[in-house]
Amino acid sequence: MKTKTTFSCQNCGFQSPKWLGRCPSCGEWETLVEEIEEQSAEGFSFPVSDPVLYKDVKEAKKRRIKTGIEEFNRVIGGGVVLGSIVLVGGEPGIGKSTLLLQISRDFAEQGEKVLYISGEESLEQIKLRGQRLGVQGENLYLLAETNLERIIAQAEKLKPQILILDSVQTAFSSKLSSSPGTISQVREVTNQIFRFAKTREISSFLIGHITKEGSLAGPKSLEHMVDVVLYFEGERDHSYRVLRALKNRFGPVSELAVFEMDEKGLQAIANPSAFFLKERPKDEAGSVVVCTLKGSRPLLAEIQALVSSTLFSGNPRRMTVGLDHFRTAMLLALIERKLGYSFAGEDVYLNVPGGLSLEEPATDLAVILAVVSCMKNKAVPPDVTIFGEVGLSGEIRSVSQPLTRLKEAASLGFNKVILPKGNMNNKDKGGIPDIQLLEAKNIREASQILF
Ligand SMILES: Nc1ncnc2c1ncn2[C@@H]1O[C@H](COP(=O)(O)OP(=O)(O)O)[C@@H](O)[C@H]1O
Ligand SMILES: [Mg+2]
Ligand SMILES: [Zn+2]
Repeated sequence: MKTKTTFSCQNCGFQSPKWLGRCPSCGEWETLVEEIEEQSAEGFSFPVSDPVLYKDVKEAKKRRIKTGIEEFNRVIGGGVVLGSIVLVGGEPGIGKSTLLLQISRDFAEQGEKVLYISGEESLEQIKLRGQRLGVQGENLYLLAETNLERIIAQAEKLKPQILILDSVQTAFSSKLSSSPGTISQVREVTNQIFRFAKTREISSFLIGHITKEGSLAGPKSLEHMVDVVLYFEGERDHSYRVLRALKNRFGPVSELAVFEMDEKGLQAIANPSAFFLKERPKDEAGSVVVCTLKGSRPLLAEIQALVSSTLFSGNPRRMTVGLDHFRTAMLLALIERKLGYSFAGEDVYLNVPGGLSLEEPATDLAVILAVVSCMKNKAVPPDVTIFGEVGLSGEIRSVSQPLTRLKEAASLGFNKVILPKGNMNNKDKGGIPDIQLLEAKNIREASQILF
């Protein structure tokens, strides 16, 4: 057997034949670690296949298996595609094992054979959680194992339809001398599971831990190797969790589902907008409701602004939570230039409560109007919601899917919407007659309409 030495960055996975003090890929210092790699020539391999004429390729019948969690099915594109590999990433304690055990239960109840492999917990611990989640256990097999070759041998014997590996960091291949959790190991584990699962048409879920510091070392370097990447996020001091698709070879990305963790496990929240607006203060200056899109779904969320004099002679602060920092700075400059306010000597804080993060440019107008509401010390009426992208001349630009946004707003009792002029044909809003459209050309006009 041939042995080879490579240096691989523990931060981003970059590989080099020689040692380097600084990783040329991610710029981190002292992250390259020597790893002895034995060429895994006799690993599990694909059967050899010949080229096929395009017109002779049979249309793929993508069978999808649905879970009992509708929200999960939607995020993954309508169910789990047979033979697909899904990476589920998230911080420790966020609820990955809980979610996957709930999903295992659903598959098992439909008669699919499930193999849940844990290198993290004992079978007794898993069962304890299972009892809390109401898992019955027909068709669900547990295996406490970390050795990859033994895992594959067991899976080969059991022939499950679903395989869950908890986690990719605890499993290791005996073909490599490096320890579990290193880049080489998580890659080898993923690679072998991938090849095994593809040839046997087993849908596989790999759980990957991610740390807060953005050290996505393991899972990040696996994203290109799998079919679907799901991320499970949440704030430590909130009970809700957000599940997002970051990559999906069989469906749309940036779909989002919201769950709440209670003693019976993760419960899907059917109406995230109502959930995120639950504690919104009404009649307070500086608070507005934006109508944004998360994947295919509209979401109403609150944006809060606070402007206060900078203490002493320090630099004025610009702080954002849940919004893009640079985009916000640009919008503040626009407010100064076009609306005549000055933020010299003022600290400006912008916040999206509940730990949500809003990336869509369609939130621009709402950010601006939140700041203006704060500067005027005038509350925005509680039945108004806002959407629109803003350009550097202060013009308000059309955004996608206005009707979807209006429907969501109407369903939550909002009856006035400030939106880009011409974004919406009045004929088109037929289905939702109760909502009043307040169209604005630029940010000055929007501010006049609102205040
Ligand atoms: N008996 C319980 N009742 C309610 N929540 C629990 C209970 N036991 C554990 N939890 C919660 O479940 C979470 C652990 O979820 P888990 O699925 O093990 O996370 P992960 O696999 O992502 O590390 C913890 O945040 C904990 O607060
Ligand atoms: Mg776990
Ligand atoms: Zn690197």
